[in-house]
Amino acid sequence: MRALTLVPGDAGSLEVRDVPEPEAGPGELLVEGLVMGVCGTDREIVAGEHGRAPDGEDRLVLGHESLGRVLEAPDDGGFSTGDLVVGVVRRPDPVPCGACARGQFDMCRNGRYTERGIVGRHGYGSERWTVEQDYAVRVDPALGDLGVLVEPASVVVKAWAQIDAVGGRAWFEPERVLVTGAGPIGLLAALVGVQRGLDVHVLDRVADGPKPDLVRRLGATYHVGPSGGVMDELEPDVVVEATGARQVVLDAMSRTSHYGVTCLTGVSSAGRGIQVDAGALNRDLVLENDVVVGSVNANVDHYRGATEVLAAADRDWLAGLVTRRVGLDDAHDALRARPDDVKVVLDLAPST
Ligand code: BGC
Repeated sequence: MRALTLVPGDAGSLEVRDVPEPEAGPGELLVEGLVMGVCGTDREIVAGEHGRAPDGEDRLVLGHESLGRVLEAPDDGGFSTGDLVVGVVRRPDPVPCGACARGQFDMCRNGRYTERGIVGRHGYGSERWTVEQDYAVRVDPALGDLGVLVEPASVVVKAWAQIDAVGGRAWFEPERVLVTGAGPIGLLAALVGVQRGLDVHVLDRVADGPKPDLVRRLGATYHVGPSGGVMDELEPDVVVEATGARQVVLDAMSRTSHYGVTCLTGVSSAGRGIQVDAGALNRDLVLENDVVVGSVNANVDHYRGATEVLAAADRDWLAGLVTRRVGLDDAHDALRARPDDVKVVLDLAPST
């Protein structure tokens, strides 16, 4: 069968290759891969900047945003042939740390976790894959291929859970949220904000393409312009930062309302600095009881929450997030970002 593979660390190595058919072990599902979502992490791996193959192997099968149909399921696990499923990305570290031992592997303390399609485990970018049933999440058939959005939505559900946990340390009834970045994570974070009845604002650097319209169709407000000015105008109670852009991150941390919560979800590359007035930043955080919290990955509960968020969303709006659908043979093209992309997905079904 065919799989999308590469050698981590080698920028020119992305290739669709024939790989052995997977076989489901005890407690595992055999799944037909339907679609795979592409995100910034995949592009970093393709660029040779991130990723690790499984121990003893050179190549890694890419793909952590999955959707597939169950071909074979054990009798006792609650899954049936034909079910639509998404595979969870992370697996606990082998120690395991206290968090991993409690199913909170998204909060792993020793960093020795593995992630499918990212670090130390093959991903879901193949015509067939297997997954332990404890790390598979059933998707409402009504969602169809949009189930591929469950993984990015799980990251967002986790981020909101962090905001709730941090905000919940005192009286917390946020009204206004600013989401910085109108990519899939930003737009899904805005969706959750709208579902919660908040006054939602989204900031991005592009003034045209699909993003402004997607934000308006949510009933949220779209902003373009320097992040500092927008922050000062809005004084949001909550910021979900999804750009990883240095100045935007800094503004997001330092210009919230009193008792503001800033949740950072964007991964930036290190090495290029900007000047920061650390005294002013510290003063602002202390005198306003502000919190900046980083959030990555998601555990099984967050995936279940994500299926609920997507089930409650307008299907046409969700479909609008998928701006390109590309066959596995054109994977190189899918992994090259275009300015108008929101979510690009790869069709894993064999072309006829
Ligand atoms: C994935 C997360 C993962 C992170 C870091 C993200 O793109 O959605 O599940 O933990 O990359 O590897």
